[in-house]
Amino acid sequence: MQRIGILTGGGDAPGLNAVIRAVVKSADQHGGYEVLGFKDGFEGCLDPEGVVELSLDAVHGILPRGGTILGAANRGNPFARKVVRAGKEVMEDVSDQVVGRIEQLELESLIVVGGDGTLHIALELFRKGMPIIGIPKTIDNDIEGTDVTFGFDTAVNTATEALDRLHTTAEAHHRVIVLELMGRDAGFIALQAGIAGGADVILIPEIPFDFKGICETIQGRAGRGRHFSTVAVAEGARPKGGEQVFRRAGDELATARLGGIGQTVAEYVEGVCGMESRVVVLGHLQRGGSPTAFDRWLATRFGAAAFRLAVQQAHGRMVALRGSNIVDLPLDEALAVPKRVDLNGDGILTARTLGLCLGD
Ligand code: F6P
Repeated sequence: MQRIGILTGGGDAPGLNAVIRAVVKSADQHGGYEVLGFKDGFEGCLDPEGVVELSLDAVHGILPRGGTILGAANRGNPFARKVVRAGKEVMEDVSDQVVGRIEQLELESLIVVGGDGTLHIALELFRKGMPIIGIPKTIDNDIEGTDVTFGFDTAVNTATEALDRLHTTAEAHHRVIVLELMGRDAGFIALQAGIAGGADVILIPEIPFDFKGICETIQGRAGRGRHFSTVAVAEGARPKGGEQVFRRAGDELATARLGGIGQTVAEYVEGVCGMESRVVVLGHLQRGGSPTAFDRWLATRFGAAAFRLAVQQAHGRMVALRGSNIVDLPLDEALAVPKRVDLNGDGILTARTLGLCLGD
């Protein structure tokens, strides 16, 4: 029997269970492989109780379920882990323990399902000689190596539905409703949901915005008898010459948490544009719940492709979607630069052609 390990790191995204199921089913179908799952990302590699055997029974019925049966952790970096030494909290590189665990379990491959942060850790482990295969996931869609990550489509659908709902109440009350969306430093969720949900103003991190332009759009609509507007703002958006808004500062363990720009925009609209405003922060609703058919389809194909790479022992690679095909490429190449909204791309062009306000 050959052994494959799998872990899901970073923030969760709809489709993680579909990936796990695909790997386990592929291994069962192939024969000669058993699959071990690590609990809570890389933490499972450090905990003697952190490994579970993933049989067909273990993955039964999980395809439509959100979250991950393995648990996730976005503070689990083995290269910088908080430990207590002589009563004091210190940061320690415990990556050798992870390496030792992978060797002790005689894993032929370790499939790491993660976003930018988790996959960078996976790349460092590969550089230490570990048999890593990467699968990209994140609702933010900010991994350059793949056209799309799974989880993104579900998040866009949830955000679009939210805009649809806000549209009717905004119209009824003649208000401006600002919807703050996730995405970190990338504006993909806000741009796509904003267009799909008919937002009048879309603010993304890639285009620093001018408050004046927002007002002109909203007041221009009111002048044409549309006494309401919806605004989709990415959490990472910022005004021209201003800073991003954070809810919590970062530390050695976790990146800073964005949040609050929606409130800033709503206050401006009410105070300066003279329109009654409300703000809704969609938050983790974008990460939870059942994956869309597209995300199940993509996650299942990623899982099957990663298993095929494991059989070929093609390590240090990441599966990806290019056009309509699943391909694989070196992890370092896939992660070389973060992906951002292309300002000359079709999404921005569409918004401009329709005359939507992008804040510039
Ligand atoms: O990266 C995914 C993401 O949901 C971001 O869009 C968001 O900024 C962040 O994670 C929130 O992280 P946490 O789980 O720490 O609240």
